[in-house]
Amino acid sequence: MTKYYLDPLGGKMSKEEIDYIINNYYMHGDGPKSIFLIKGKDCIVTDIDGNEYIDCQSQAWTLNSGHSNKTILEAAFNQAKILSHVRPIHDTFPRVKLIKKLAEIAPGNLKRIALTLTGSLASESAFKLAMINRPDALYFITLYNAWHGNSLASAAASWVPTQTRGKDNFGFGMKFKPFMNNFVRVPNPYCYRCYFGEKYPNCKLTCAKVLELTIEKAVSGPVAGVYIEPIQGNGGQIPCPLKYLQEVRRICDKYGILLMFDEVQTAFGRMGTMFGAEYYNVMPDIITFAKAMGNGWPIGGILADNRLETLQSTGEDAYTNANNAMIQSAALANINFIIENKLKENAAKMGDYITKRLIELQKDIPQIGDIRGPGLHIGVELVRDPKTKEPAIEETNMFYNESLKRGVLFGLAGAIRNVIKIKPPLTISKELADRVLNVFEDVARIVFK
Ligand SMILES: Cc1ncc(COP(=O)(O)O)c(C=O)c1O
Repeated sequence: MTKYYLDPLGGKMSKEEIDYIINNYYMHGDGPKSIFLIKGKDCIVTDIDGNEYIDCQSQAWTLNSGHSNKTILEAAFNQAKILSHVRPIHDTFPRVKLIKKLAEIAPGNLKRIALTLTGSLASESAFKLAMINRPDALYFITLYNAWHGNSLASAAASWVPTQTRGKDNFGFGMKFKPFMNNFVRVPNPYCYRCYFGEKYPNCKLTCAKVLELTIEKAVSGPVAGVYIEPIQGNGGQIPCPLKYLQEVRRICDKYGILLMFDEVQTAFGRMGTMFGAEYYNVMPDIITFAKAMGNGWPIGGILADNRLETLQSTGEDAYTNANNAMIQSAALANINFIIENKLKENAAKMGDYITKRLIELQKDIPQIGDIRGPGLHIGVELVRDPKTKEPAIEETNMFYNESLKRGVLFGLAGAIRNVIKIKPPLTISKELADRVLNVFEDVARIVFK
């Protein structure tokens, strides 16, 4: 007997039909396939078989205000009823109000704003603005294992053209090699596995020294910008230490280079502050943002220091759908929701709570090699042996699958694929956090028995 799956909004399909359509017509240029989802409410998602999961992925760290947030949906739909799609040349109330709000919450002098659609496009806008302001420069510097997007330029800035040789062979950039040559990478401050055998904070910040030497001696011309994620997400939840960012700021000032923060994952509350720049109190010249800004509606942009030359209205950064009034209304409602419901404060509180319990558990299960935050930007690096730090790659895969069976959807990331991410919506309650932690503990005991 054929089993049919019901679409909650009507109709049904068999598994064979679904598989046929996806396998024959859809190009999955994405990561490996995971569960089929049909519903989401706040922190919980439901799959096609009716199983529920606590969503510790917030669907790519996007749904800070939770799935199907009523306030945000209403704002979007109310706007859609009167005006939704607008060409970027027209001003509208949603755009004016959103820009005003962004200018209010923007840190420091970062009061010039451009809007776009995605994180990748925000990176592109930032590169353009940096090139406008540093017209003679030829290069950008990014970090090992960075992720700045998957458009051709943002992919070139990421780890995509690296890791194409050797045993960790998941880089795919050489397929696109004509476009992969404009960025120079320097060591990321990966303190748990310091490339230089140092120990933060009592280290010489050799990683920053290499950045300085690269600017001075390794690039064949001036550098426009240094582009850094305050916490590397895709690379493995690797936070920049404060002194590192302060030193990079000093180096950029010394050489007249723009410091650019990729806050596509860190902006809008996840670290316990609205922006990562505030968490560190280190001000870059440009911040890129996207993901959590729209709580699932595609929108991103950049904040730029108001002393910089701006983008010009020659169409140099125009996109047909980058002025969608419905999405802008959703984004404004989302930012207000984050502020009014104190979600960044909850991120700090719940992040602290989860982290403390993980540190307790680590005493018993030393394969929990490193626990990194802050806030609800949590990554746990799993190792086979805490002394050798041999990465527990297969175990991390097993961890992910066993957690799914127990109703928790964790993230799995890292350049070595041995990091479990715990990044639920910032609305998460203590009760749900406890459920996540209980599953984490049960699974850790099974995987590392
Ligand atoms: C730090 C960072 N920058 C940029 C991007 C690209 O964003 P998008 O996928 O919206 O293009 C991502 C996406 O994962 C990201 O994590």
